[in-house]
Amino acid sequence: MKPDVILVTKVYPRTQEILENEFNVHRLYEASDRDALLRNYAGQVRALATFGPMGADAKFMDALPKLEIISHFGVGYDSVDIGHAKKRGIIVTNTPDVLNDCVADTAMSLILNVLREFPQAQVHMRAGHWAGRGTYPLTTSVGGKTLGILGFGRIGEAIAKRAEAFGMKIRYHNRSRKDSAFAYDPDPVTLARNSSVLLVATPGGKATEKLVGAQVLDALGPKGYLVNISRGSVLDEALVLQYLKEKRIAGAGLDVFEREPNANPEFFALQNVVIYPHVASATHETRYAMGMVQVENLRAYFAGKPVLTRVV
Ligand code: 8YV
Repeated sequence: MKPDVILVTKVYPRTQEILENEFNVHRLYEASDRDALLRNYAGQVRALATFGPMGADAKFMDALPKLEIISHFGVGYDSVDIGHAKKRGIIVTNTPDVLNDCVADTAMSLILNVLREFPQAQVHMRAGHWAGRGTYPLTTSVGGKTLGILGFGRIGEAIAKRAEAFGMKIRYHNRSRKDSAFAYDPDPVTLARNSSVLLVATPGGKATEKLVGAQVLDALGPKGYLVNISRGSVLDEALVLQYLKEKRIAGAGLDVFEREPNANPEFFALQNVVIYPHVASATHETRYAMGMVQVENLRAYFAGKPVLTRVV
C-alpha cells in the first residue's frame, strides 16, 4: 500500500508526478473544506509535504495525530513550528544545498542591480527618455566595495565566491565564527559600519526577527546599500522603508518581504529600491532539484532508511 501524504500545494510538475505515482497523495489545496479533508484522513496520514511560506503550525500538525514526517520544500523552515514537531516526535526535513548557486546568483544580481541601477536605466530607455531627457545618470561601482555578509552559511559562502570575482572585499558576521580567511565582525552593527553593501543571508524565525533595525541601518549609513535574500522578518521593514525614503541608506535590493505576496506597495514607488518577488531559487533546474530532495526524504523514510536532510 502506498503511504498517505498530505500535499499543501501544487508543486513542480515532475515532482508532482513522482509524488502522485509513489504515494497516496491528498491534495489539500483542492479541498473545498480543508478541515474535513484532514479529518477524513487523520487516521492514516503519516506524512506531510509542505511548501515554503505555507509550512505547518501546531494546529495543522495536531489535526494529523499519526503524523511522523514533514518533508518541507525550502531550505528555510521558519514557517514550520519546529518546537511543536520536536514535542510530537515528528521528523522535519528541508531542501538545502541544491539551491545555493541560484540564491547566490540572485544575491549578486541584486547587488549589481541596486548599485548600477540597471532596472531603472531600462525603464528610462523604454520610456523614450534617452533621446528626450538624455543619458541615464551615473551610478555606483561594485568593484572595490566591501560586502558584509550577515549570516555566513552555505548560501553566504556561495555569495562571497561570486562577489570576490567582481572585485568586492568580503567581511561577515555569523553567530559562530567560521574557519574562513574573510574578516569577521563580532556583531551586525560593526559589520554594517564596515560595509558598503550589507547582505542579509541569515535564517528567518524568532532568533533573527528585526535583526536589521535602527542601529544596523545607522551604521550602514547614507552611502550604504542593503540587500536581503533571507526573510522579510529579519528586517524592521517599516524602518527600512523610512530610511530609504529619507535617504538615510542609499538603496536596497529586496527579494523577500514581511507580507508575501502582498508586499508593501510603498516599496514599488521608490527609485532607490530594486525588488524581486521572492524568486531567488525559482529556476526550473533548482526547483526540480529541491523537489527531488523533498521526495527522496519521503522515499527514505518509508523505506525505513535515515532521511537525507533532517532538521529535527
Ligand atoms: C523558496 C526559499 O522560494 O528555500 C527557501 O527557504 O525561500 C525559497 O527557495 C521557497 O521555499 C518556496 O516559496
